[in-house]
Amino acid sequence: MSHVAVLPGDGIGPEVTAQAVRVLDAFGIAYSKHAFGGNAILAEGTPLPEDTLAACRRADAVLLAAVGLPELEGKPVRPEQGLLGLRKELGVYANLRPARAPGIDIMIVRELVGGLYFGEKGIREDGTWFDTCEYSRPEVERIARRGFEIAGARGGRLTSVDKVNVMHTSRLWRDVVTQMGSTLYPDVAVDHALVDSFAMTIVQAPETIDTVVTENTFGDILSDIAAAVTGGLGLAASASLGDDGPGLFEPVHGSAPQIAGRGIANPAAMLRSVALLLDHGLGRAADAAALEAAVDTALQIAPTPDLGGTSTTSEVGDAVLRALDSARTL
Ligand code: NAD
Ligand code: IPM
Ligand code: MN
Repeated sequence: MSHVAVLPGDGIGPEVTAQAVRVLDAFGIAYSKHAFGGNAILAEGTPLPEDTLAACRRADAVLLAAVGLPELEGKPVRPEQGLLGLRKELGVYANLRPARAPGIDIMIVRELVGGLYFGEKGIREDGTWFDTCEYSRPEVERIARRGFEIAGARGGRLTSVDKVNVMHTSRLWRDVVTQMGSTLYPDVAVDHALVDSFAMTIVQAPETIDTVVTENTFGDILSDIAAAVTGGLGLAASASLGDDGPGLFEPVHGSAPQIAGRGIANPAAMLRSVALLLDHGLGRAADAAALEAAVDTALQIAPTPDLGGTSTTSEVGDAVLRALDSARTL
């Protein structure tokens, strides 16, 4: 029987997790909850306790809500380090961030365990602070492969986003994508875009975009923009996959401290992450589709304040469970 490690995290994390576990229960999926993020720092001094990591490794999939506590910003040990550590430890280098709305169907494939996030960083003797962006050829090849495969299974078009006019690593990126496209994936139509103007394309012509592959930092920023043009962060889910081992499924949004504790966070991004988990993590595509449809229905009936409505987090959960129930009995 499959088992999911659930990491509620901080801020609105536990609030949206409460709705996600109702759905796991409805599908008969076993799970266990583990300390992670800011709450784990306060309780145990580390954002990614060893027993949490061990539970994630043992699980068939990991469901994470969000981390981040305002009181820990600027401190030497921060919740976000736990998130980066977990991604690295699980080797989930391919982060799939879909953004859908009427007429729009974008899939951003973000490299997740390299680049600026993981390059050497520090302070030189002269007091200069630095981060470095590094990519090896195999690191670019494996994420490009995912991008081509996903594009091939979708609309057949892949846009590789870089900053080749300035960045050295972008030259490697463009070279690898160009070569792999012509030799291994001749059926996928590839084009290349510079990240600054591509950000504008997402805002002005999102319906023209199919699949996107890009490096870690660009993917972080572009996926928030894509979320904004398709209904906001309350709706945007993601799946992070490696070559083997459990995948990590999490909303694109953070812990939203301004609205935490009020019961008004939109759980849709989290519930759509559960749908991605059912599909990519547990191989239950039909259940994933049923949950996607139930979330769409629930958002029509019970929109939260971020969507202009007045529904609470748990009312969305109620509507999702009702929609799942009626789909089953029909
Ligand atoms: P955020 O995503 O938490 O919030 C951005 C905006 O979106 C806020 O206005 C917030 O209220 C709104 N929002 C986000 N999720 C929502 C939801 N489910 N329903 C309704 N509104 C929602 O980003 P931030 O404010 O820049 O960051 C807050 C903290 O979260 C920081 O500590 C940051 O590091 C962390 N963070 C964590 C993750 C993660 O755990 N994966 C992702 C992003 C940010
Ligand atoms: C995200 C978040 C994280 C990232 C932070 C919290 C480390 O913004 O998942 O998009 O930058 O990857
Ligand atoms: Mn982000």
